[in-house]
Amino acid sequence: MGQWLEGKPVADGIREQVKVEVARCREASGKVPGLVGVLIGDNPASQSYLRMKEKACQNLGLFGQIQYWPADIARLDLKARLEALNADDRIDGILVQLPLPKGQDTQEVISWIDPAKDVDGIHPISLGRLVQNQPCLSACTPRGCLELIRSTGTSIEGKNVVIVGRSLIVGKPLSLMITNENGTVTICHSKTRDLAGVCARADILVAAMGKPGFIGPEFVKEGAVVIDVGSNAVADKDIVRRLFGADPKRESEIDTKGYTWVGDVQPKVIDKAAWMTPSPGGVGPLTIAMLMRNTLDAFRRRHGV
Ligand code: GUN
Repeated sequence: MGQWLEGKPVADGIREQVKVEVARCREASGKVPGLVGVLIGDNPASQSYLRMKEKACQNLGLFGQIQYWPADIARLDLKARLEALNADDRIDGILVQLPLPKGQDTQEVISWIDPAKDVDGIHPISLGRLVQNQPCLSACTPRGCLELIRSTGTSIEGKNVVIVGRSLIVGKPLSLMITNENGTVTICHSKTRDLAGVCARADILVAAMGKPGFIGPEFVKEGAVVIDVGSNAVADKDIVRRLFGADPKRESEIDTKGYTWVGDVQPKVIDKAAWMTPSPGGVGPLTIAMLMRNTLDAFRRRHGV
């Protein structure tokens, strides 16, 4: 049986560091890093993620603000609003919460953000710099995955790392970061043949495809480090029972909230893994901590502090 790799202690360490450094910036320059999170439309999950990010800013001494823009905002209005944020010297980080409402062109919207303020690390320039292994703002969740892997004392160099999921915000940037750390990367997706067989060769397995409980023990090598990026709202008690057995806490959560959060990895995988992140409580806290770090880094670069 492996050990649970909790995100909170690792995230707390990073947050504490950021808090100290923000206070130093304030003393040195009279300014603090500023982050704007933009919610286009009213996706409830996005709203709650942005509130957590805003609260983290408040706790660490950064300026944090959520802007609510209408789902049907006209293309040029959206562009003009992002340009105004690009030009606002108090703002160091701009984050447009994804997914965008239907009809909005995600790639185009991201391209309108100043790369110097792209704290999500998904602007083509940020990703291009990551490909070149140059200093850049890089995506928060993959950075968090690396911090979690490092916290176990596992070295990435020379390891077989299998990532399931090829999203712009997790799978693809993570594959570049691992490559830059001299790991050997395989990215899997819905068309991969013998997915279980490929995953079972991984020293480090990262599940980031957004399918509740898809990864079972047959996907996992004995002694692997398993990082579960999945965070799926599940409303069906039968699915919860299949994954967790009788779990009164989760079932009562479904009764009160209408859903419970479930990862991509079945909890029983802990029996084979050396380390495994829980979900929730694994990667999530790191994503927010790394966003604070990225906003501080963006501030430093912009102000030369
Ligand atoms: N939606 C889910 N995760 C993220 C993230 O890290 N950044 C943004 N912008 N949207 C998300």
